[in-house]
Amino acid sequence: SSSFCQPSTLKTCQCDGLIPFSDKGKLTTTLMFQINNINTAVTTMEGHDKNNIVTIQREINNLRKKLQECEEAIASGAGLANLSMSPPVGDCNHGGILKVSDPVLVKLNWKGSDFKAGSWGKDFAVGTKTPDHYWVFPLNKDERTLESYRLYSSYKKLLIYSPVREYSLNIRNNPNCEDCGQGAGVIFFNGSFYYNCFDSRALCRADPFSMRISRENIEDQDPASFNNWFSYKGVKYQDIDLAGDEKGLWMVHVANGNMVIRKVNPDTLQLDTPWTTSQKKRNVSNAFMICGVLYATKRVNSTHEVIFYAFDTNSAKEHSLRIFLNKPLPTMQSLSYNPNDQKLYMYNDGYLVYYDVKFKPRVAKRAGPALAADSGLDIHDGKSQSLVVKSAQSAADKEDRSLGNRQQKTKTSKGEISAIHESRMM
Ligand SMILES: *[C@@H]1O[C@H](CO)[C@@H](O)[C@H](O)[C@H]1NC(C)=O
Ligand SMILES: *[C@@H]1O[C@H](CO)[C@@H](O)[C@H](O)[C@H]1NC(C)=O
Ligand SMILES: *[C@@H]1O[C@H](CO)[C@@H](O)[C@H](O)[C@H]1NC(C)=O
Ligand SMILES: *[C@@H]1O[C@H](CO)[C@@H](O)[C@H](O)[C@H]1NC(C)=O
Repeated sequence: SSSFCQPSTLKTCQCDGLIPFSDKGKLTTTLMFQINNINTAVTTMEGHDKNNIVTIQREINNLRKKLQECEEAIASGAGLANLSMSPPVGDCNHGGILKVSDPVLVKLNWKGSDFKAGSWGKDFAVGTKTPDHYWVFPLNKDERTLESYRLYSSYKKLLIYSPVREYSLNIRNNPNCEDCGQGAGVIFFNGSFYYNCFDSRALCRADPFSMRISRENIEDQDPASFNNWFSYKGVKYQDIDLAGDEKGLWMVHVANGNMVIRKVNPDTLQLDTPWTTSQKKRNVSNAFMICGVLYATKRVNSTHEVIFYAFDTNSAKEHSLRIFLNKPLPTMQSLSYNPNDQKLYMYNDGYLVYYDVKFKPRVAKRAGPALAADSGLDIHDGKSQSLVVKSAQSAADKEDRSLGNRQQKTKTSKGEISAIHESRMM
C-alpha cells in the first residue's frame, strides 16, 4: 500500500514494486515511463482540444490497467510470460482466435458524425514500407463513393488530427470520379490503397506518394457481383472487401451468392483461384482474414456482433465459433484485422474503434508435452522470421526517408495532383 511511501522515506521508497526489483520489472518501468510521458503531454495539451484530452485520458487508463496486471503477475510469482498470449508479429503458429478485447473507442472520423460509413486502420502488410502510418477513409455522404482520405504518420498524429496530408482519389477532378472507389472494403497495404473501383467490377490500387492509380478488371462469371448486389448485410457497396494478413493481400467477393476468398497479387492485382465458402455473403455482416483464415461476423443486436464462422484456406476446412464483439454504436460499417499489431479495426457509424485479439496456443498433433514440441518450431521460425522482419525494417527506414523526398516533389509539381495540404491543428 502507499503507506510505504511516507515523505520522510521517499528517497529510498520502492513504492510497492512500481520500481523494478529485477529485469522482470523492465516492462513496468517502461509502462510507468509511458504514463508519465502521456501525463506531460496532456498537461501541455490542456486548452487545445477537450476531445483529445478525453482520448488520451483513456490511453492513460489503459496503461494503468496494464501496469496493474504486470504488478499482479509479478506479485503472484507468475512472471510476465503469461501476460501476452499473442505470438510474435507475423507468426501463424497458433490455434486461431481465443478472444477479442473490449472495444477501444479512439475518436470520431475527421469529416464528422454525418459520415457514417468508411474504413480506417494502420498499414496492413507485414514488413510494410510504412509501418507507422494510419489512414482514415470516410465514404462520401452517399455511403458509396470513396473519394478523400487522410494519412497520418503515427498514432499520436491521428489522435491530434494532424495528418501528413488530405488526399483525393479524384485526381482528374472528373464529376464522375472514375478513379474513386466504392464501398468501405478499402484497405491500406504496403503504402497503397486497394479498393473496388467506382461503378465497375474491377480492383484499383492508389499510391498516395506517387499519386499513381492502377486498375485491373476481375474476370468472373457472375454478372451481379458488384454495385451493391452482394454487399454484406446491413451495409452498402461492399461487394468487394479487401483484407491483409500474415499471408498477404486478400479479396472477399461473391460467387452464386456465396462468399469466396481470393489471394491478390499486390503488384499486378492478379487474382488466384477462389476458395468458395458455404456462407451466403448477404447473411454476413463483415469478414476479415487472419493467417489465411477467413472469419465472418453476424449482427446480434445494436450492441453486439458475433464472429460465428471461419474458413481456413490452409486446409480448405470450415468451422463455427462464437466470439462476441461489443460495439459502441449500432452499425459496424467495416472490420479488418491488422497482422502488425494483432488488432481488429472497426469503423463504427463514423467512430474509429479497435480491439486486441488474443490467440489460442496451437493444439499439439502428437503425444508428449505440447509446449516442448511447439517451442522447438517457434525457435526455428522465430529466427528466420526476425531476419526477414529486420531487413524489411531497414528497407522501410530508407523508404521513409525517400518518402519525405517524394512528398517534397509532389508538393512542388503542379497539375495532376489534387492533394490538399493540411494545416496542422496545433
Ligand atoms: C500460465 O498460463 C498457463 C496456460 O494458461 C497456465 O497453465 C499456467 O499455470 C500459467 N502460469 C502461471 C505461473 O500462472
Ligand atoms: C512492399 O513493397 C516493397 C517495394 O516497394 C517490396 O519490396 C515488398 O516486398 C512489399 N511488401 C509486401 C508485403 O508486399
Ligand atoms: C441467409 O440468406 C438466405 C437467402 O438470402 C435466407 O433465406 C436466410 O434466411 C438467411 N439466413 C439467415 C440466418 O439470415
Ligand atoms: C445483445 O446481445 C448480447 C449478447 O447476446 C447481450 O449480452 C446484450 O445484452 C444484448 N444487448 C441488447 C441491447 O439486447
